[in-house]
Amino acid sequence: MLNPRTFIAAALLMAGLSAAAGNTSENTSVRETGPVMPDVIIPAPAKTELTSGTFTLPDGEITADPRVKVSVGDRRFGKEMKAANLPEHSIDAAYSLEITPEGIRIRSVTELGAYYAVSTLEQMRLHGSELAACKIVDWPRFRHRGLMIDISRNFHDAAFLRKQIDVMARLKMNKLHLHLTDDAGWRIEVPSHPELVNKAAYRIGKTWQDWTGYGELRYATAGEPLASGGYLTTEDAKELVAYAAERHIDIIPEFEIPGHSREVVSTYPELACVDAEGKTVISSDMCPGSDHILTFIDEILTDLVEIFPSEYIHIGGDEAAMQSWKNCPHCQERMSENGITTVDGLQSWLIREVEKIVESKGRKLVGWDEIMKGGLSGNATVMVWRGLENGEQAMAEGHDVILSPSAYYYLDYTQDAPIVEPQSFGGYLPLEKTYSFNAESDSPHLLGVQGNVWTEYIPTGEHLEYMVYPRAFAVAETGWSQVENKDFADFRERAATLCAILRSEGYNTFDIANEYGDRPESKQPVQHLAVGKPVQILSPYNKNYSASGDGSINDGICGTWTYSDRRWLGFLRDLDIIIDLEESTEVHYVGGTFMSSRGAGVSLPEKVEVYFSADGENYTLAGTAWNGLMADTSEPAYVTFPCTTDGKTRFVRFKAYRRDMPNHEWLFIDEIIVK
Ligand code: ACM
Ligand code: ZN
Repeated sequence: MLNPRTFIAAALLMAGLSAAAGNTSENTSVRETGPVMPDVIIPAPAKTELTSGTFTLPDGEITADPRVKVSVGDRRFGKEMKAANLPEHSIDAAYSLEITPEGIRIRSVTELGAYYAVSTLEQMRLHGSELAACKIVDWPRFRHRGLMIDISRNFHDAAFLRKQIDVMARLKMNKLHLHLTDDAGWRIEVPSHPELVNKAAYRIGKTWQDWTGYGELRYATAGEPLASGGYLTTEDAKELVAYAAERHIDIIPEFEIPGHSREVVSTYPELACVDAEGKTVISSDMCPGSDHILTFIDEILTDLVEIFPSEYIHIGGDEAAMQSWKNCPHCQERMSENGITTVDGLQSWLIREVEKIVESKGRKLVGWDEIMKGGLSGNATVMVWRGLENGEQAMAEGHDVILSPSAYYYLDYTQDAPIVEPQSFGGYLPLEKTYSFNAESDSPHLLGVQGNVWTEYIPTGEHLEYMVYPRAFAVAETGWSQVENKDFADFRERAATLCAILRSEGYNTFDIANEYGDRPESKQPVQHLAVGKPVQILSPYNKNYSASGDGSINDGICGTWTYSDRRWLGFLRDLDIIIDLEESTEVHYVGGTFMSSRGAGVSLPEKVEVYFSADGENYTLAGTAWNGLMADTSEPAYVTFPCTTDGKTRFVRFKAYRRDMPNHEWLFIDEIIVK
């Protein structure tokens, strides 16, 4: 993203959300003829072998069928698994499943392994009751196979979460991380601080756009006119924990510290910074210098560990702006008293203090990768969402790591052509890209992988399901299956079938069988007169969006749907580019395609001008193309500005002008085409 995932960035001029996501195709029949083969299973098992015959598994509880024999604590199986040199967590979850015409035999070392064996059978039975005889031996690659759901930005209730837990269980995912607290709302009732849900679980403005669009961010109490929101009661949360635990899923609560906490400092101004005059500064950051901060955090954590038994407590740690800390006398005092010289160091101090609190309660701390800023000590686990190099560094320093890189695993990014998808946070993250991430590292510090679904632009449960399935299947397969068993073409078919099954059960999945796919222009090179000619870019592009350098503007390669593909050049200024055709050439057309992605501050130009010159010094205007869209569009767009020209020229000069409007910072162009 060009803009960080901050509150403010996302508040940019996002007008009305497009119609709620809906799948367009009919629910297709998922029954295939013939017995159900083990090759339907997601995540793909470690080893499968077909034998002969079939076994019919009727509806009902599988282990109640007398033909199904389960042996937990199976010595022979345990020995086999040990001999295979698997890590302990894999052995604990491993199972062997033999389906023969006479019956089914499950072997495992623990209850968990037997549970996963039954889960495999249940998934096969979704495709039909007649199962092909086979032998499956299976175990997970990683111990953490997670999904994060953000219920702060838009609240999603316990019934909805239970529905998603059902799918996670089928996918053998085992960690549901709930983003419970953020600027947009506090979503968990905590007995020590009832004011948090009384004052900050509701807001004025149902959607993110409504809420951020008023200029003033207003919280509300339940029942107030226009109040929108909700929260999990302590009871809801405990029931949810129990529901998940029955499915061998831990719920990891996230309590955001110290950034993304406007709802907290708005409720408790004593946790906010003050300015030099002593006036309270309400921002998204808590004040690490506040006298009350550690007590507050301790009391919240005391409540959270009472509700959530999970080994890990997530404390956020991402994207603190730290701006108010620089001028706050309380922060300054805290820094000087601890010999800290930077605000990063102050965050680091706070995280260390919080870790002591978390550990005093017998739990482990996990935080977003910014907790490494200013140095990370102790036993903290790092959840990597930015560059993977952060994960490498954390593991090298001895920290455990969970990988949820935004480039692959941010399930709120657009999953198909932005021109046909509902408005989203941005990007282009199709199933194939999510699936392509293999988390390749031999480090024992790599705990696993996790998909994250942030909900700024996801107001409804239907829409959330649409964003999550099938991409979560890909996360699950990378988390569980052996890398050598991964195959996208095969996975895509399995995913399409499982999506159809989920749709028949009332889930609103994306319809992967009818995917639009990447930008057609990007799929083959385009031939034109300027390909490979000398080029002079008089208006430098931004170094982060430099594609393959100057030559990418006329290399015949057009961009994909996303500006981060290293095909689009990104400019924070008007464009001025000269191409030397090397000889006098008849030119009828000069055009360039620009991208618009409003959430990211990427806009179309006001107009494009083309100039001709025989000598490279004296230029005359040869054509103009205006932006025909008078109103700014919030829809993603890929618009070609075509200049028809007439005559001969050696030099072609291409200028594009930005619109004179706030937040129209970027121009992105992939290719100047000359014909
Ligand atoms: C994040 O996306 N700020 C963790
Ligand atoms: Zn402060």
